[in-house]
Amino acid sequence: MGTEKDTQINSSGNFKDTNPIVVRKCTLEDLEGVIEVNERELPEDYPYFFYKSILDHYPESFLVACNSNGKIIGYIMWRVERTPAITSLKLKNNGHLVSIAVSKNYRQLGVASTLLSHSMKKIQKYKVDEFVLEVRITNYEAINLYKKHNYHTHSIKEKYYRDGENAYYMILKPKISN
Ligand SMILES: CC(C)(COP(=O)(O)OP(=O)(O)OC[C@H]1O[C@@H](n2cnc3c(N)ncnc32)[C@H](O)[C@@H]1OP(=O)(O)O)[C@@H](O)C(=O)NCCC(=O)NCCS
Repeated sequence: MGTEKDTQINSSGNFKDTNPIVVRKCTLEDLEGVIEVNERELPEDYPYFFYKSILDHYPESFLVACNSNGKIIGYIMWRVERTPAITSLKLKNNGHLVSIAVSKNYRQLGVASTLLSHSMKKIQKYKVDEFVLEVRITNYEAINLYKKHNYHTHSIKEKYYRDGENAYYMILKPKISN
């Protein structure tokens, strides 16, 4: 497994296995593995057609991380939404992070960081004016991840999650705006 377009995560020095993790574009065949990671690692899950629709519309920024056996151990997916700009009547394109997760055994190895930074480059293809996301206000691991990638907290969305928890709405402007 692995082509020259894939990314191998073992250069940061903190990856203990001798076999690299590969980050690559998601395929239709990967969706089962993606759903498995999602259902194990996150309380928010989605029907199959939702994943399929994201893959159909935004294949460039839907990435998976695989271990040396080819098993999916992480993923990230985005969609693009047209929303009115706050300061003008213009519409802008928000790159909205739909979901990211890494299997417990593979955490704190830089997998999420690699998924995030690579997918943010890829989603620029869809002419994104801003990257946006929601995160549970108690999800310190994820909040730290986003802050590390220069996201800032824009506001709080009250009772955003089904269980009533609030979300931070976090934003990052791409370096080159479209
Ligand atoms: C959040 C999550 C994706 C991070 O994945 P990961 O592969 O372990 O993250 P990385 O190894 O790339 O870490 C990148 C940064 O995230 C932050 N981070 C990750 N794990 C952390 C932890 N346990 N405690 C504090 N900060 C943490 C740190 O800032 C870290 O940078 P550093 O290593 O320089 O300190 C992972 O914990 C996960 O899958 N959680 C469950 C799903 C989830 O909450 N998704 C986000 C929904 S909004």
